[in-house]
Amino acid sequence: MSTADQASTIREVDLGTEASFEKLPAPVSVDQDEFFLTQDKGGAYHLLSTICPHSWGTVINWDTCFMCPDHGWRFERGEGICINGPRSQMYSFTVTVRDGNVYARIPEDKSQWA
Ligand code: FES
Repeated sequence: MSTADQASTIREVDLGTEASFEKLPAPVSVDQDEFFLTQDKGGAYHLLSTICPHSWGTVINWDTCFMCPDHGWRFERGEGICINGPRSQMYSFTVTVRDGNVYARIPEDKSQWA
């Protein structure tokens, strides 16, 4: 296997126009995967996977934070940092805006999500 074969392929996904996200966090679907588009206090966008970093439960938008019903981990709604448990964070992907469009960079291989 070559080095190129071992490297994770990262694809850039067009999430749509910035104006189409009137309210954040916003649910976003990419193929079979679910995410939230968020914005932190500094104004930067983040794409956060709904797959819980603890044990692969499904994180939901709950009250004033995100929460995983499986074991109750809660995450703040900017960068997805865990607020009631161990040092952890929701799987987060780089988001950029170009010409009014929102793009996220997501590794194809989920073992590279960290
Ligand atoms: S799987 Fe999400 S808190 Fe345990």
